[in-house]
Amino acid sequence: MAEPRPRVWVSQPLFDDTVAQLAAYCEVVATPEVTAHDSASIRARLAGMDGALITLNERVGAAEIANAPDLKVVANVGVGYNNLDIAALSAAGIIATNTPDVLTETTADLGFSLLMAAARRIVESDRWLREGNWGQWSFTTMLGADLHGSTLGILGMGRIGQAIARRGHHGFGMKVLYHNRSRLPQDVEQAVGASYVGFDELLAQADHLVLVLPYTAQNHHLIDAAALAKMKPSATLVNIARGGIVDELALANALASGRLASAGLDVYENEPNVRPELLALRNIVLTPHIGSASLATRRAMVQVAVDNLLAGLGLGPAAGQPANAINGELLAGGNARIIDTKKR
Ligand code: GLV
Repeated sequence: MAEPRPRVWVSQPLFDDTVAQLAAYCEVVATPEVTAHDSASIRARLAGMDGALITLNERVGAAEIANAPDLKVVANVGVGYNNLDIAALSAAGIIATNTPDVLTETTADLGFSLLMAAARRIVESDRWLREGNWGQWSFTTMLGADLHGSTLGILGMGRIGQAIARRGHHGFGMKVLYHNRSRLPQDVEQAVGASYVGFDELLAQADHLVLVLPYTAQNHHLIDAAALAKMKPSATLVNIARGGIVDELALANALASGRLASAGLDVYENEPNVRPELLALRNIVLTPHIGSASLATRRAMVQVAVDNLLAGLGLGPAAGQPANAINGELLAGGNARIIDTKKR
């Protein structure tokens, strides 16, 4: 008798035509509407599943996989994976994958858009004009900060950080400084036009600081009141990484008191809830976590995640070799729960 087909759960509506590719190999249980799944709901939905295609909304750790002895792959549609407890998944032999590369340039574009909008007070100007405040052209209306020729600081110099550095250096003639866990090779530094500095020096020298580092327990509230106090009062802070890296109340206080000129945030500590202290400010641009949200890039991310899921299950053209395994050592060590297609 033929083996039953593997079962996969798709946690949110994605692009139906791309997700449909899974149906060639698997029984697909797709969530028809945007849904806030809590831990119990994720746990219930993963029961009996071989794979899951999930988004940053869904946190998956030991509790959520407790009833899922057949689960082999969790394919995250996104590059950041702080929603996954990798240690718990690895301990259970479950492959975790993400979608790097395809979203690099789109996310860097959004980071730069936020930076320009905040530094040149674009959103504030728009609101002010619509509110009927423009009585007469004035020399001093909405004075902002230049990007060209200024110093761009980048905290976290992975792929997206480097894409932002290239934009700043080659596009706007900015001096680019960065801080990262490890220094980049010299040829890469040269190609993106960036110089390595210590954390405090980065804070002190940047006219504009962009956060692009992965969120970990170690960098929770890394940008707190003390860090903000080291920045120039004329500076712009942009966060396109994860909200928890910034102490949002300290940021709101710094912006309200004039200690910091402006900010652009795409990410928040308690998404989708944004602190009222931030909402009340004029000198901040707020977007709803849309870093990778161009149509082409979001489609590409789903395709990569589908490919990763099938490959991680041991199915499809790249069976057994998901391109973006976060815990690839499971495969190398033969400890993954992958489907043995020879037995099917
Ligand atoms: C979005 O924030 C992502 O990590 O892809």
